[in-house]
Amino acid sequence: MAMFTQAHDFNVHGGNFINNTYYGTSHAQDILNKLNPSKASFKFGHHSPCLEGTRIGILGMLMDWARNPDSQPIFWLSGIAGTGKSTIAQSFCESLEKNHLLGGSFFCSRESEECRDVGRIVPTLAYFLAQQFKPYFEQIKVALEADTTLASQSIKRQLESLLLHPLQNIKRSQSYSYFVLVIDALDECEDVDATQNVISILNSMPLAFYSHIHIFVSCRPEYYIQQEFERTSNKALFKLHDMQSEIIQKDIQLYLHGSLHDQHLSANDIVLLSEQAGKLFIYAFTQVQYLKKAPGPVALKSRLNDLLRNKFIVNSIDSLYNLLLAKAIVGMQANEKEEAKYFINFIVSLSDPLSQHALSELWKPCDVD
Ligand SMILES: Nc1ncnc2c1ncn2[C@@H]1O[C@H](COP(=O)(O)OP(=O)(O)OP(=O)(O)O)[C@@H](O)[C@H]1O
Ligand SMILES: [Mg+2]
Repeated sequence: MAMFTQAHDFNVHGGNFINNTYYGTSHAQDILNKLNPSKASFKFGHHSPCLEGTRIGILGMLMDWARNPDSQPIFWLSGIAGTGKSTIAQSFCESLEKNHLLGGSFFCSRESEECRDVGRIVPTLAYFLAQQFKPYFEQIKVALEADTTLASQSIKRQLESLLLHPLQNIKRSQSYSYFVLVIDALDECEDVDATQNVISILNSMPLAFYSHIHIFVSCRPEYYIQQEFERTSNKALFKLHDMQSEIIQKDIQLYLHGSLHDQHLSANDIVLLSEQAGKLFIYAFTQVQYLKKAPGPVALKSRLNDLLRNKFIVNSIDSLYNLLLAKAIVGMQANEKEEAKYFINFIVSLSDPLSQHALSELWKPCDVD
C-alpha cells in the first residue's frame, strides 16, 4: 500500500476510480507497462460512432445487458461484413465510459500488427481494467511483480493469471463493481487457431471469472468463430444480419439523409438508395462517398442514375464496387487501363471464387477499346 501514499484526489463513483491518480504513480505505471498494451482502444479513433438517432434499439439493448449484473456474461454481436458492428461497438464503448462501466476495449484490425495479434488482447484489456478498478489493480500488481513476463505467455495463462486469479482474489466485501470488456472484430486477428482458442477458454472459465467482468465481442460469423461460440453456454447472441429489414432501412435512410443533405436529393431518391443498400451500411457508406465526390449537379444526377440503375445486384457489395471501378476505368488512358487491369487481376487471384466472378464481370463494360 506504500505506493498509494502519494495518491490524492480520489473520486470514487460506484467503486470506479474516475481520477486514476493511484495509477499515476511512477511505480504503478512501470508495473502496468509490463502489460505492453496495444493502441487498440476505442479512443484511438479506428472507427466513428453511430450517427445520432441510428441504432437506438440495439444500443439500448446493449446498455440494458451491461447494466444488469445478472445478464449472460458474454455478448456476441454477430454480423456479416459491413453491417455496422464496429460502429455500434464504438458507440457502445462511449456510452459505457460515460456510465463508468467500461473496463477496457480492444478493436482488432488486420491493418496493424499490434491490433491483429490475438495475444495482445488480454494484456491490453487488463491494463485498462487496472486503471478503472483499484481492487483489481492491487491484485494484478502483485501478480506482475512476481512474474513480469505474464503478458507474453500463452493465452490460457494470460486469461488465468491476468484475469481469473486477480479477479477471484477480490473479496466480495471489497467491491461489487463490475465492468464490460469490449472486443471488436475478433475475426481480424491473424492466428485463426489462437482466436478460436480464446473463445473456447472463455467458455471453460468458472463463473468466478465473470463476477466482476462481462465480455462483449463483435465479429463476423466466420466458421471457426461461429462453431466455437455455438458451444458457449453463457452467452447472449444478436445477429445484425437477421434484424428486420425495415428497422435497418430506417437507420440507413437517416444516415443517407444526414450525409447527403447538401446534395438536394429527393426523399424518394433516398428511399431508393436505401433499398439498394439492403442491410449493409457499408453499401450506403460507399454510395455516399460516390455521390459526395460528384464535381457538380449534372455529374451528381448521372452518378445517382448509375446507382439506381444498378437494380439487378441488390444486396451485393461486389457489384457496387464493380460499378465504381468500371466508372473509374472509363476515364483512363490506355496505359493506365493496362496497369489497372494488372492490379485488379492480381486482387482477383487473391480473392474467393464469388468475388472472382464478380470482378471478371468488371471488364465487360470497358473492354470496348
Ligand atoms: N449507425 C451508423 N451511422 C453512421 N455510419 C455508419 C453506421 N453504421 C455503419 N456506418 C458506416 O458504414 C461503414 C461500415 O460499418 P462498420 O465498419 O461498422 O461495419 P462492420 O460490420 O464492422 O464491417 P466489417 O465486418 O468489415 O468489420 C462504416 O464506414 C461506417 O462509417
Ligand atoms: Mg468492423
